[in-house]
Amino acid sequence: MTEVQPQDTRADREALAEAQAPADRATMRERVARDLIGARQRTSLLTDCVDEADLVRQHSPLMSPLVWDLAHIANQEELWLLREVGGRESMHPEIDPLYDAFEHPRSERPTLPLLPPEQARAYGHEVRGRVLDLLDRARFSDAAFAASPQVGDAFAFGMVVQHEMQHDETMLITHQIRAGAPVLTAPRPGPAPADAFRLPADVLVPGGPFTMGTSTEPWALDNERPAHTVDVPPFYLDTTPVTCGAFAEFIADGGYEDPRWWTADGWKHRQQAELSAPLYWSRDGGQWSRRVFGRPEPVTPEEPVVHVCWYEADAYARWAGRRLPTEAEWEKAARFDPATGLTRRYPWGNAEPEVAHANLAHANLGQAFLRPAPAGSYPAGAAPCGARQLIGDVWEWTSSDFSPYPGFRAWPYREYSEVFFGPEYKVLRGGSFAVSPAASRGTFRNWDYPIRRQLFSGFRTARSAVAEPG
Ligand SMILES: [Fe+2]
Repeated sequence: MTEVQPQDTRADREALAEAQAPADRATMRERVARDLIGARQRTSLLTDCVDEADLVRQHSPLMSPLVWDLAHIANQEELWLLREVGGRESMHPEIDPLYDAFEHPRSERPTLPLLPPEQARAYGHEVRGRVLDLLDRARFSDAAFAASPQVGDAFAFGMVVQHEMQHDETMLITHQIRAGAPVLTAPRPGPAPADAFRLPADVLVPGGPFTMGTSTEPWALDNERPAHTVDVPPFYLDTTPVTCGAFAEFIADGGYEDPRWWTADGWKHRQQAELSAPLYWSRDGGQWSRRVFGRPEPVTPEEPVVHVCWYEADAYARWAGRRLPTEAEWEKAARFDPATGLTRRYPWGNAEPEVAHANLAHANLGQAFLRPAPAGSYPAGAAPCGARQLIGDVWEWTSSDFSPYPGFRAWPYREYSEVFFGPEYKVLRGGSFAVSPAASRGTFRNWDYPIRRQLFSGFRTARSAVAEPG
């Protein structure tokens, strides 16, 4: 049962914007500048390390050539900031259709007359220079979510920052798919803390209502809105994401050969696609090995499993006598604080993510790690229920279809979320090691087809709890 909480009126929002002190604006300006620069550093890191041939090549029909991402990032930045906010004319109208993601599916993009790498970089550089000039004059007039169809600058800057960060993750997925000599390096995360081995397998999340979604998070996207109350019965959730070691037991027990654990569609897909292990895994004698950004290595049992599709996650959960959590369960576990009855921005509280909280791609560190951290890491980022690594490490499949919250309003355009609502997409939560803090929140929703596993996707399992007699 859900109920929509009253939203702020337009007048409230305008009053709030007017009341914003110049110091707040300066802080916002600094944050936007820092995140824009951080995003561009990551974009450069991911595109300067390969040669021209690699930039224009399509490494998989599921992905764009890297050079498309590069110019698309600049084109969207130009569209939303220079044109929508700044009121300028299109810089190169003839190329706009090439970089419209809805006009050309990924499989088609290598056939387009795309800007060559040097021109794509120069375009991005030129747009960015003009955007930084615009940022100097920004008033951040829509501190809350804008009610008008006009895009306000506070949200537009946030959307553009997140957009580039999200494409950085997309480009990192392309790097993982890419064949050829390895080009990316990063240190391995440290071992899990000593207490990781004494953690309970699962934690209880108490039943009752909580506030899901947000009406106030300034950079939240339309599908995260509005805040609404959801009553969630008590349940148990895995303390950490499912590990490679646990998943290997599922394989060894014949999990991929037993239709009992699979939905009808899942079993059909498993047979057609000949799934027998997570993507990039292979048998090496009696051991599992895998390829990580071009380097073969033994599978690490204590790391969260990654590159599994929804059907594999769901089958594992059934084999384990459990199920995937619903999206509402996941968010309640991640955000609800029973001590105060309040919903937090992040599992650890309301503070912005720091390095100790989560395995994210921190802007000041570039791409910190290129893999999830061992299960049980990041005790400082634990949720009140005791679950760890809910943000960062791996995207977590939930059992839920991608659907609008009650009171949803498409903004700033239908193609952002609305056209994807429906039973064909499943929701993922949390965010992987490739997600930037600027694009990470307890409310953030990702979605994909249940057959997809090129993304950095893992999961954790749940089981319902019978309420204690009162
Ligand atoms: Fe995009």
